Amino acid sequence: MLEIKDLVVNVGEKTILKNFNLTIEDNAIHCLMGPNGVGKSTICKTILKDPNYSIISGTITYNGEDITNLKTNEIANKGIMLIMQNPITIEGVTNAEMLRTALSEKTKEHIDIFKFNKELENICNKIDLPKSFIHRNINEGMSGGERKKNELLHLWMLKPNLVLIDEIDSGLDIDALKIVAKSLKEYQETYQASILIITHNPHILDILKPNYIHILKDQHIIQTGHEELLSDILTSGFNNLNKANSVGESDFNE
Ligand SMILES: Nc1ncnc2c1ncn2[C@@H]1O[C@H](COP(=O)(O)OP(=O)(O)OP(=O)(O)O)[C@@H](O)[C@H]1O
Ligand SMILES: [Mg+2]
Repeated sequence: MLEIKDLVVNVGEKTILKNFNLTIEDNAIHCLMGPNGVGKSTICKTILKDPNYSIISGTITYNGEDITNLKTNEIANKGIMLIMQNPITIEGVTNAEMLRTALSEKTKEHIDIFKFNKELENICNKIDLPKSFIHRNINEGMSGGERKKNELLHLWMLKPNLVLIDEIDSGLDIDALKIVAKSLKEYQETYQASILIITHNPHILDILKPNYIHILKDQHIIQTGHEELLSDILTSGFNNLNKANSVGESDFNE
């Protein structure tokens, strides 16, 4: 589904990612971990073409199509969505207005307002978000945890095939964390979507049960493994990983 090959990414003059390779298959959950400041958020923002990040070389392919040079809206319309670490506020634009516009742009079809509103209400119920959020401006005045749930509202409405999720756990209390993680798992299973999640939170991983865990360090993925890699990291940190537990890029692509 998503194939990133030999990517080099700069912020200004500084190289953040180099020799970055990652393949995400259909219907799979991948988790990306690594120390602060290694470039985890950078890879997500690069895929969605945040203008602060320049691709110096390498390719990003999605469903066989080269999307390296596409614009953010073109990539979003192909079914990739990013849930940001710090979701931005858009003053003066409500959730409903944005979602209606995004959906009609994506499907090029007329939106039945009655069905649209009903679906929004159902999703609010599902993720324990007050219905009043439907007509609130995007993230304006919302608490950290509410912003994360608000992103889930967007997820369920826009139905992307590939979801990039950057530290959704930050700002969530323990109950909200469970609701959000279960909702993500339900979404993935319902639509056989693929997820790339950045998190170090064992509760989220326990619910999501990722197929692969990748460690990003020194500008690229240095190790790929499964559940056992998580326990290594939780006990030893990122500096003393047990190499024996890793699987190579070739195993990972099978
Ligand atoms: N717009 C920017 N301007 C300047 N430096 C940037 C910018 N974006 C990222 N960087 C730098 O790139 C590096 C990687 O940042 P990134 O946000 O990707 O890290 P991260 O792995 O997501 O860290 P964290 O775990 O703290 O979220 C950091 O050193 C950061 O300061
Ligand atoms: Mg980050």
